[in-house]
Amino acid sequence: MCIFEFLTFTTMEYSSHIGNSKLPKVETTIFTTVGNLARKHNAIDLSQGFPNFEADRTLMSLVNDAMQHGHNQYAPMQGYYGLREVISEKIEQLHGHSYSPEREITITVGATQAIFTAITAFIHKGDEVIVIKPAYDCYEPAIRLNGGIPVYLQLNAPDYKIDWHLFRQKLTDKTKMVIINTPHNPSGTILSKRDMEQLEAILKPTNVILLSDEVYEHIIFDGADHESASRFPGLANRTFVCASFGKTFHVTGWKMGYCAAPESLMAEFRKVHQFAVFCVDHPVQRAMATYLKNASHYLGLNDFYQKKRDFFLDGIKSSKFKYKPSQGTYFQLLQYTPLTKERDEVLAERLIIENGLASIPISSFNVANRNDYMLRFCFAKKKETLEKAAEILCNLN
Ligand SMILES: Cc1ncc(COP(=O)(O)O)c(C=O)c1O
Repeated sequence: MCIFEFLTFTTMEYSSHIGNSKLPKVETTIFTTVGNLARKHNAIDLSQGFPNFEADRTLMSLVNDAMQHGHNQYAPMQGYYGLREVISEKIEQLHGHSYSPEREITITVGATQAIFTAITAFIHKGDEVIVIKPAYDCYEPAIRLNGGIPVYLQLNAPDYKIDWHLFRQKLTDKTKMVIINTPHNPSGTILSKRDMEQLEAILKPTNVILLSDEVYEHIIFDGADHESASRFPGLANRTFVCASFGKTFHVTGWKMGYCAAPESLMAEFRKVHQFAVFCVDHPVQRAMATYLKNASHYLGLNDFYQKKRDFFLDGIKSSKFKYKPSQGTYFQLLQYTPLTKERDEVLAERLIIENGLASIPISSFNVANRNDYMLRFCFAKKKETLEKAAEILCNLN
């Protein structure tokens, strides 16, 4: 039995002792399972999506300053106004849409809480939510906890492109929400202007809400532009844009993000937000407000991560893996059929135990765990870590 199945089984068994689970099919996440196994075998960990290098010391000093200056009590429920203001300016500058800092932007505990809150505020029992697979794992539990029904559109390897004709067929009179994610975790693809225009045209005659997960908005390569939903008037008027400072400033552990949406949607969002968390870490918000004023702190990120992507891909040139360079995010998919026909989770486990390298099997993001013969590697790592990982990958036969 594969170790991943074993961990899943023990979790399921445990939940049967505590009665009727609200999420009977939710298992230990693949990230926890792989992370634990990687630690046990002291493997190089390219599985989870976080940097293994430090954030900017300036940002840390700003947090310290905020604490020393007494910003240690509750922040306003919607978030520190100065931070909402600078976010509003940033979105207007980059995407040309003006969000009111007062009424249309809320600071959240990472993008995860923004996503959970938007879903909880709008999804009733029986509502359908279109989820494009492979998908990040926090959408579906939030939909199910609220009695919603995820409706899947499974994309295909190796391009993972959305067929808008198929997408349109998923819409019914029960569709309440659509979730998109660009740049996309795990495939590393991005939605183009044309994609967004097609989505805008399809949703035009409906009242469907769009949840646009844009946590990798500043990690996009080869001169491409991030096509935020806020750029498209017919989308902006129905969209929750969810973003993460954790991804942008190498501080995933601070769990801070934000959500921008039109006033009527945001008013409902805040009804849930104020009773779920009320407000978010105050000194970090103060620090972010100052740090975000300098655009070079986020505009340089594309280049920074593109160099890491290229360094990693250059390192595995002589390996047997096949790949298309990631277009965005800090993930690279590698297709392994020239090496083996094993299932991806079996290979991922073997790579940890036998070769000391951890990655994420893509099947865990797909409908019915479909195997695409792909592993996901995170290149938000120090040069020496990427070098060691590349060497292992090149030596696999
Ligand atoms: C696509 C996607 N959405 C949301 C999140 C969660 O972001 P945060 O850590 O800010 O909650 C992640 C984190 O990996 C992600 O990859």
